[in-house]
Amino acid sequence: MIGIESGLETPNAAKTDLVDFIDWPRADLDELMVLAERLKARRRAGELFQPLRGKTLGMIFEKSSTRTRVSFEVGMFQLGGHAIMLSSRDTQLGRGEPMQDTARVLSRYVDAVMVRTFSQVRLEELARFSTIPVINGLTDLTHPCQVLADIFTMRERFGRISGLEVAWIGDGNNMCNSWINAAGIWGFRLRIACPPSHQPLARYMETARSRSPGCIEITSDPAAAARGAHVINTDVWASMGQEEEEAVRARDFAGFQVNRELVELADPAAMVMHCLPAHRGQEITEEVLEGPRSAVWDEAENRLHIQKAILVRLIEGIRAIA
Ligand code: CP
Ligand code: NVA
Repeated sequence: MIGIESGLETPNAAKTDLVDFIDWPRADLDELMVLAERLKARRRAGELFQPLRGKTLGMIFEKSSTRTRVSFEVGMFQLGGHAIMLSSRDTQLGRGEPMQDTARVLSRYVDAVMVRTFSQVRLEELARFSTIPVINGLTDLTHPCQVLADIFTMRERFGRISGLEVAWIGDGNNMCNSWINAAGIWGFRLRIACPPSHQPLARYMETARSRSPGCIEITSDPAAAARGAHVINTDVWASMGQEEEEAVRARDFAGFQVNRELVELADPAAMVMHCLPAHRGQEITEEVLEGPRSAVWDEAENRLHIQKAILVRLIEGIRAIA
């Protein structure tokens, strides 16, 4: 429903966004996991499930992407809908059209919008001025769709989420912040090993600890984080937007590589995760990325299944399927 107030369309309070999954009740996230599991099973069985016929997703990209773009676009197609790629290079956003104007215009055309951008503020502005659901496809602070796919992968591999021990090795970046949010929600133990100069934001750790006391440990010793862990997780040392810091960061993160020696300290059934793209020989060795403990290709595939669950939930309100 759209209202006109002083020439501005009032936000639709009834819509649900996925700005950050920390805003969602745990029960809704667990429900989403089951829905993604069902969607994956149906896809594997070759069954068509197309509740989004006639629906369109707008996808704003202000940073590069392979997985996020392709999995959302393919997901919409499989669900019977359509997706439009809106690169900031080719739209008026790149020429300075305000996000609030873009939000209101897109709300007149499409049924949901996914955005990959730099600041969380820009994402929140899009959510505030849109009357349609908004999905965070990565910001400098968080990457909720990726970490939901990662939690789904962990649940698929171990049959549970609670009680697991997860090591995060490397940068306290957007991925690490979303893993901290996940630890707060599901209460698994997250041991973060990062250089003191690259720790995650304190407020994410405080929120997680207040929800699940004892869920976050922080160290500068990768071996201490990896010992006995069920999951070893890493990400690039220089994220998108930090290209000029690459050389300095390579020095800062020396000793924070996920390699065979580190993986051997983990639980014998441990899996190694990386959201990709990976830099072989930097944050992870080729041997580990391509080795028997690596779950990275399943993890990448699961972006598709969890995002299909997010799309049907946000666009059509579907919470469960047979
Ligand atoms: N992991 C991930 O988000 O990949 P892309 O940057 O390719 O979308
Ligand atoms: N931390 C990385 C994740 C890429 C999917 C980045 O922001 O570039």
